[in-house]
Parts: sequence; C-alpha cells; structure tokens
Amino acid sequence: MKRILHLDASARPGRAGIDPHGSVTRLLTRRVVDRWQTLRPDTAVTYRDVGAAPPAPVSAAWIEAAFAPEAAHAPWMDEVLAESDQLIEEVRAADALVLGVPLYNFSVPSAFKAWIDNIIRIGRTVIVNPDSLDDPYTPLLADRPVILIVSRGGFGMNEGGPLAHMNHLEASVRTALGFIGLTSLHEVAVEYQELGGDLLASSLRNAETCLDELVMSLQSRAPARAPAVPQPLSA
Ligand SMILES: Cc1cc2nc3c(=O)[nH]c(=O)nc-3n(C[C@H](O)[C@H](O)[C@H](O)COP(=O)(O)O)c2cc1C
Repeated sequence: MKRILHLDASARPGRAGIDPHGSVTRLLTRRVVDRWQTLRPDTAVTYRDVGAAPPAPVSAAWIEAAFAPEAAHAPWMDEVLAESDQLIEEVRAADALVLGVPLYNFSVPSAFKAWIDNIIRIGRTVIVNPDSLDDPYTPLLADRPVILIVSRGGFGMNEGGPLAHMNHLEASVRTALGFIGLTSLHEVAVEYQELGGDLLASSLRNAETCLDELVMSLQSRAPARAPAVPQPLSA
C-alpha cells in the first residue's frame, strides 16, 4: 500500500482515553494508521476530517452541475464541483481507506453523508445505463480495502444482535461504496460507549485486537517492495 485515506467523521475533536470527551473512532483510526506506517514506513497518508469540516451538502447548483451533459457544461460548474472533485481524487489516489464513523441516530453523521453525496458522481465514479434493466450501474473505481470503524453508545446492534434493526449505518455505507466499486469492506464496531466501564473496555479491546490483526493481514497481502539486489559476499 502506498497511500491511505484516513477519514474521521466524529464531531468530537479529541481521542477517547487521551483527551477529555474524546472520540472512540478517532482513537481507533489513528491506531490503524500508526500501525500501518510502522509496518510500512513508506506509506503516505491523506487526512480528511469531515467531522471538523463537513463537505458542503448537495445544493440546487451542485445538482445542475453534476448532472449537466457535456454539451451544457458551463465554467461556473467547475467551481461548484471543485470540492466534490477533490474528495473523489482523494479516494481514487488511495490504495486503502480507513474510515471512522460514529453511529448518530441509527445511521451515519450528516457530515459523513455529505462526503458520500460528494463522491458518488454520475460519469465520474459510476455510470448509469437506463437501457439495461438487469445491470444498470457500472462502478468506475477500482476496488481496494476499506476499513470501516464504527462506535455506538448502545449495544446489541451488531449483525444478528437483538437491536440490529435499529442500526442502518454499516448497510448504508456498504451500499453506497459498493455502488462506486469499493466492495472490500472490513467492519469493526465498538459498543457501550455511553455505558462505559468494563463493557466498553472489553468491546474496545476486542476492536483493537481485530484491527491489529486486520492491518497485519492486509499488509501481508500487499505487494512487497522490490527485493534488494543481492550483493557479492566480501572475502
Ligand atoms: C447526535 C448523536 C446521536 C447518537 N445516536 C446514537 C444511536 O442512535 N445509537 C447509539 O447506540 N448511540 C448513539 N450515539 C452515541 C454515539 O454513537 C457514541 O457516543 C459513539 O461513541 C460516537 O463516536 P465517537 O466516540 O467516535 O465520537 C449518538 C451520539 C450522538 C452525539
């Protein structure tokens, strides 16, 4: 892996256990990126903090520009789409994505949804072919690993859990990213953030173990750097 896109979506600026009222997802995204760079010091990181600086939501001008056919393209549209172009470029340039996404009211934070809305672009990241009823969508991005780190205040919302029906986060991210070609999602969630105590500590420990193993495994699958040219042994 040469470049990671590290994205945080928590509205809380600090890291849990380090800063007062810190974010669990920020703690874990940073852990993953730090471990990755320890294993592969040549890995570059693009950092995007949508929690601190949410992308502009879709507007009437954005829709007109994004859906304009080539022949109707006007110079003002470039400006309206500049942020979206930049966010798409960051995804395109990354060999892996590390996304920290808190559960807010059963789904993703609005800042993260704004990021999704800006990276799904007809003609740029997906093609729609209305003539093909069976297969109308062609994603335009090459697949690459995405580590999706989630934190929830409550519990029982993992797949198969008693409150799973109250959690629409992972499914919506899976659908949106799959739509543009990113299907290799690795999902790790922490629960009990609002309850704290041993339950939170144990959930956090499990997530850390999972993430450490995941980084190790993704590293071992990544193409190795060119082996050093063997040097003749000196006498
Ligand atoms: C606006 C808001 C809405 C939330 N909604 C939910 C929710 O629907 N379910 C839940 O289990 N926790 C919910 N929580 C708790 C967060 O998921 C939890 O605090 C999580 O750790 C936030 O991620 P962070 O620590 O990275 O900031 C909500 C928190 C906030 C601030």
